[in-house]
Amino acid sequence: MYCVKKIKDDLYWVGGTDRRLALFENAFPIPKGISYNSYLLIDEKTVLFDTVDHSISGQFFENLKHALEGRELNYLVVNHMEPDHCATLGELVKEHPELKIVCNQKTVPLLKQFFEFPVEDKLVLVKEGDSLSTGRHNLTFFMAAMVHWPEVMVTYDTEDKILFSADAFGTFGAMNGNLYADEVNFETEWLSEARRYYTNIVGKFGAQVQSLLKKVSGLEVALLCPLHGPVWRKNIGWFVDKYQKWSSYAPEGPAVMLAYGSIYGHTENMVNVLASCLAEEGIQNIKVYDVSATHSSYLVSEAFRCSHLVLASVTYNGGLFGSMEQLLLELKAHNLQNRTVALMENGSWGLIAAKKMEEILSSMKNITLVDTKVSVKSSLKEAEGQQIRELAQQLAASIKEQG
Ligand code: FEO
Repeated sequence: MYCVKKIKDDLYWVGGTDRRLALFENAFPIPKGISYNSYLLIDEKTVLFDTVDHSISGQFFENLKHALEGRELNYLVVNHMEPDHCATLGELVKEHPELKIVCNQKTVPLLKQFFEFPVEDKLVLVKEGDSLSTGRHNLTFFMAAMVHWPEVMVTYDTEDKILFSADAFGTFGAMNGNLYADEVNFETEWLSEARRYYTNIVGKFGAQVQSLLKKVSGLEVALLCPLHGPVWRKNIGWFVDKYQKWSSYAPEGPAVMLAYGSIYGHTENMVNVLASCLAEEGIQNIKVYDVSATHSSYLVSEAFRCSHLVLASVTYNGGLFGSMEQLLLELKAHNLQNRTVALMENGSWGLIAAKKMEEILSSMKNITLVDTKVSVKSSLKEAEGQQIRELAQQLAASIKEQG
């Protein structure tokens, strides 16, 4: 049966949720599932904003049919051409041969790459600032290249002040009946997944997100409609502020995460001792992660949240422990910058891990290394315990300075 949500008298959510997919993009665990949002505007012309992933095509087409109530579908606005939002586009075109596709020039090659129907016949090309009247509504288009693909744009309904924001302001997590962010405990139950979604999917493109935020900052936005996760009608500024921080690579506040790569537990012990010392120094909400047991997407997300990182790695085969190396390369790939980092290393044959970590960190922007580096051979001894206490004091002082 259809599962349509009415947003306004003439606007409907016709998307769906997937709780079966294990890995989004075959890369990121989504234990809480994912939603693919699609919106239908019923005006003098009917307009669909993006389609959905093939996994929920059955639900989507049932929803669309119900919401159209026998009307023709006149326009499909393609804000984003990634298959999680366009996999059902080909089938949609077959079902609605009268349909025109509203998109920008950068979308066209992607349409032709993914589909074989005669694309040119269907196009209504728009560029920055162009408008399309659909009757009562007027849609204005703003280009948002690299948020998250080159062809991305966002659409603003000037009549009802609605921003269809593509991937921006989306989140991992299946919708559980409630459509609006103010109907769920967003800050406690969704924010971490919104952060993990942003940092891993779009995090690399902070400059482009900043440029989009600047572009839409002058718009009055009453409804924010992303392609994943809840719709926003209250407190939009709070979420925009998170995006400002994430996209400018500023931490959300003073906070520390400790990530360790340990084989037999001795490096883990170093981190546990440091975490306890930090607590004694008055630092709260310390987070400790085993890089071998935690998917890197969670660690990337935490690194974006925290102002201070402690990376502790064992030396492995004369180099860096594999999962720690992967984490560092991920942080670099996602453009993480402006962080204070402390290093701890361990090695039984020799000590090389800190040097290897420093090599990667030195190729990242504005990373400040804490002076004290803890080096341990095989297992932590009392003498090195003193080094850890000193590191805790230095770190705590630096964290408090940012408070
Ligand atoms: Fe939700 Fe970039 O696709």
